[in-house]
Amino acid sequence: MNILVTGGCGFIGSNFIIYMLGKYPDVNIVNLDLLTYAGNLENLKSLESSPRYRFARGDITDRDIVSVLASEKPQAIVNFAAESHVDRSIIDPSAFIKTNIMGVQVLLDACREFNIPRFVQISTDEVYGSLGPVGSFSESNPLEPNSPYSASKASADLLAHAYFKTYGLDVVITRCSNNYGPYQFPEKLIPLMITNALEDKVLPVYGDGLNVRDWIHVLDHCKAVDIVMRKGLPGQVYNIGGRCEYYNIDIVRLIINKLGKSESLIKFVKDRPGHDRRYCMNADKLSSSLGWEPEISFPEGIDQTIQWYLDNQKWWEGIKTGEYLKYYDTWYGDR
Ligand code: NAD
Ligand code: TYD
Repeated sequence: MNILVTGGCGFIGSNFIIYMLGKYPDVNIVNLDLLTYAGNLENLKSLESSPRYRFARGDITDRDIVSVLASEKPQAIVNFAAESHVDRSIIDPSAFIKTNIMGVQVLLDACREFNIPRFVQISTDEVYGSLGPVGSFSESNPLEPNSPYSASKASADLLAHAYFKTYGLDVVITRCSNNYGPYQFPEKLIPLMITNALEDKVLPVYGDGLNVRDWIHVLDHCKAVDIVMRKGLPGQVYNIGGRCEYYNIDIVRLIINKLGKSESLIKFVKDRPGHDRRYCMNADKLSSSLGWEPEISFPEGIDQTIQWYLDNQKWWEGIKTGEYLKYYDTWYGDR
């Protein structure tokens, strides 16, 4: 099976490529990635000499390069490419609109032109908006995104749905909850807190720290994407979640305790504007129809993840320089 993965140099995409090539000897992957600040060739260094892997640097909004790769007629395109950080979307939504919406249009058009049998759009729980203290999101919930990031992802979902309805394109959409694990860029909660704690830097907790996220190990997400890509029904949406809710502050305290650091590093800072209070996924459809279940418990996964950041200090130290420091100062400077 030949797959075109887009955004494969980021956190989830690189885990997906490593998982797929490790699991299936008959899978070949081409990875189209622009190498934005979030893309890192280091993540896939172990595959450099693999005859079943090829990297192409390029932008999913560039019709020429997308056409060249789609004309090779992969059996599926799996789109991880996106601007993915809510806080950056608050600073400037432009790149989110371009990549997350217009890029998806280009990919969908290429699927039509070259008769690609399956397009997998990797979406997010954030398209549903925010939950109160009880309940969970199912696939039939309305889309009520609150950040420029989630609005751009919701737009892409609608576009993908429209291409299914209007042109009969074989599209499946996955919506997953918050991922954690190796190779996550240290701007997101868990790697930010681990790496800041290791550097004895302030741990900035937004608002009262009582926002809730539903955590899933990235490997469980990758396994779900594989199953949906192979067996999902055309036009369907599949929620993916870890059934694992935590208050942010509890995650931060847990990391501090595991690393033997002091809680005095915690600083409650000005809240994120439009901050969603709670996410919780109902993934029953995926479990009952396609047999997927998350396998990695949070206590096990977080230990592994903390150990990965301890073992791969060079990886994240290389990132926390230059552009990262500028972003950090812009976002956290006045908080
Ligand atoms: P990431 O920011 O780590 O990686 C994004 C990748 O996309 C990078 O390699 C980047 O270089 C590439 N990219 C960005 N713009 C591009 C463009 N125009 N053309 C080609 N490549 C481009 O993101 P991630 O956390 O790995 O998320 C991957 C996907 O999963 C995203 O679509 C995101 O919305 C979705 N998602 C993420 C989470 C999460 O918790 N991280 C949860 C649910 C869904
Ligand atoms: P994040 O990892 O950015 O994921 P998302 O906003 O997409 O869910 O943030 C997870 C939660 O952690 C969210 O409620 C915001 C909060 N948070 C902080 O409190 N401090 C931080 O420095 C960051 C990055 C996030």
